[in-house]
Amino acid sequence: MGMNKVWSEYVQGIMTLYLSRKLRFDDAFFGQYGNVFQLDPEAKLKILEIGCGPGALAEALHGWYPNAEITAIDRDSGFISFAQKNIPGVTFIEGDATSLPFAEHSFDVTISNTVQEHVEPTAFWGEQKRVLKPGGVCLCLSARRGLHCQAPCTEMTKEEKEFWEGIPQTESELEKYGVCRYPMTEAELPASMEENGFMDVTTGYAVIDLTPDARKYPPQMAELMIEAKRQNDLEAIKSSHHEYDAKVLDAINAKYDERLRLYHEGIKQWDTSVSLTMIVRGRKG
Ligand SMILES: C[S@@+](CC[C@H](N)C(=O)[O-])C[C@H]1O[C@@H](n2cnc3c(N)ncnc32)[C@H](O)[C@@H]1O
Repeated sequence: MGMNKVWSEYVQGIMTLYLSRKLRFDDAFFGQYGNVFQLDPEAKLKILEIGCGPGALAEALHGWYPNAEITAIDRDSGFISFAQKNIPGVTFIEGDATSLPFAEHSFDVTISNTVQEHVEPTAFWGEQKRVLKPGGVCLCLSARRGLHCQAPCTEMTKEEKEFWEGIPQTESELEKYGVCRYPMTEAELPASMEENGFMDVTTGYAVIDLTPDARKYPPQMAELMIEAKRQNDLEAIKSSHHEYDAKVLDAINAKYDERLRLYHEGIKQWDTSVSLTMIVRGRKG
């Protein structure tokens, strides 16, 4: 087994991805996904998730489609060992989306979330087509632009500002790892699926509204929204692989401790993070 931890150590940390996706794939939003997926919730489907990261989507699918047999693959060993340890009921495998370690006609469904833009399209679609059974369904989820509005208490602290201003631009580093090498617009994505041989292609959108103060969300969910942001900010510092002072982490923790306190005291902030996920569905002929 290889030891590829580039993504989990340099690009996005384990908790950043796991918690943000745990929210994005909360049961509260299943109706929106399920409408476009059009999968029989009772069927014994064989589902393959490509580029599963730390596994939050696979975990959600396991709950939504209890009779399905779910396999999930990612090339990052840090994500795969986290998922194997923490998510029961799903088979997690380390491997590459451009040469899937499965025979042709193995799966009823392939699915991925925010992976297409990182993988060469001919291989991305071609490999899914190869492992799908005839008539199998390919689902490609893609995060589009969101709306974000912060609470004053969680704005970037001077400690964080100093840290980020003190390190060189990281954009070229991300390029080095092939991050977002194949971006597609909302029009290009379904067209690319069709060009690569999928039929009956259709699109839909899920709107994921994360507003801790909204009454529809129970406290546990609101707390998770705040914790997800805390982990995002903490792991961003660590993933930069530049030296940092513990004071930066303390400052981040203090912001989110304060946000939690305000939440529990009922002092509303109405900070919100709304994300839009495009869902493209196609069928192998
Ligand atoms: C933006 S992350 C999304 C992870 C996960 N789907 C989620 O939503 O949390 C992109 C993922 O694709 C994986 N990835 C990128 N290229 C890959 C490839 N060629 N084969 C397998 N996984 C790949 C990365 O390791 C990373 O986990």
